Amino acid sequence: MAILITGGAGFIGSHTVVELQNAGYEVVVIDNLSNSSEASLKRVEEITGKPVRFYKTDILDREGLEAVFEKETIDSCIHFAGLKAVGESVAKPWEYYHNNIAGTLTLLDVMRKHGVKNIVFSSSATVYGTPAVIPVTEDCPKGEITNPYGQTKGMLEQILTDIQKADEEWNVILLRYFNPIGAHKSGKIGENPNGIPNNLMPYITQVAVGKLKELGVFGNDYDTPDGTGVRDYIHVVDLAKGHVRAIEKIKENPGLKIYNLGTGKGYSVLDIVKTFEEATGVKIPYVIKARRPGDIACNYADPSLAKKELHWEAENGLREMCEDAWRWQSNNPNGFEES
Ligand code: NAD
Ligand code: UD1
Repeated sequence: MAILITGGAGFIGSHTVVELQNAGYEVVVIDNLSNSSEASLKRVEEITGKPVRFYKTDILDREGLEAVFEKETIDSCIHFAGLKAVGESVAKPWEYYHNNIAGTLTLLDVMRKHGVKNIVFSSSATVYGTPAVIPVTEDCPKGEITNPYGQTKGMLEQILTDIQKADEEWNVILLRYFNPIGAHKSGKIGENPNGIPNNLMPYITQVAVGKLKELGVFGNDYDTPDGTGVRDYIHVVDLAKGHVRAIEKIKENPGLKIYNLGTGKGYSVLDIVKTFEEATGVKIPYVIKARRPGDIACNYADPSLAKKELHWEAENGLREMCEDAWRWQSNNPNGFEES
């Protein structure tokens, strides 16, 4: 029995394949490589010493998916595949709704036709909007979502909830990630954004490696200790291990479950800059800029439900996240290009 990993060549997917293989699971990866490279899976094989069964398949391609389900014996799916750039989603809403919503509906239909009704879904803390309470618990009401990317997460949570409610054979675990950063300790896999990064840590590492001149800090007048935005940054390897625990949980037929995956600690933009400088010895020049539209002041998780029910908690601190992100970026200044 294998676990199907959609989007498994991507940032979080590739780290999750490593942790699943290390834990002895058999995995099958599908990815259309729209935002990744097959080289990441070759690196995964170097790390784990195990082959990765890979199909270059789009989740919108029903026949392609059918072929994978015919060939492989799959019992659960971890569904990472999706487009994820907030700014791009505002410019290309149709592409985001089509890829993320229609793609997931196609996947779910093929799954149920093959009697596979266990799914772990990549959701996001973005569904809380401006959180009603901090630290945010899973029962915190969903907030106003300000962009099509985030809307797809909110809608897919609802779709999966309704499908599970209608057919109790489904087991659905919605994982709400906070801010994944860092990279595998080997320095072989990591985040490899296309073009200029939108997210904070890849922007910082590209400044550090000399590809970008300086960091723009989006606002220093928020109601936070130093005025800059506060987030719950989580090491991607800890996040990946959370998926292994979710796969263990899904075997207990839990029905519908929702878990925050975060550390429970909030750090500001300037905390990240300072810790990165201390961890790496590389100076990060920055300038204060206007607030980024849609940003919130502060968001961090209450991760206690995942601790109680998944027996999972984040182990790496911010310094390790910075060291590991830097090891990946400095070893691979052009991502997977030279592989
Ligand atoms: P990523 O872009 O590195 O990985 C997503 C993968 O999905 C890519 O390899 C891409 O090629 C693939 N993909 C996209 N559309 C596809 C399709 N139609 N068919 C097949 N493959 C397709 O992103 P990531 O950071 O690893 O994120 C993984 C998931 O987690 C996404 O669903 C994302 O929205 C979600 N998430 C990410 C973050 C974050 O900060 N990285 C936060 C919250 C949630
Ligand atoms: C963003 C998305 C969120 C998505 C998440 C993961 C927005 C509004 N939110 O979250 O929906 O789930 O990425 O992909 O885009 N910052 C700077 N300078 C930069 C980049 C970021 O100061 O160049 C600041 C931001 O203002 C924020 C913090 O760094 O305070 C983190 O930003 P980012 O990494 O983009 O994550 P989020 O905004 O939390």
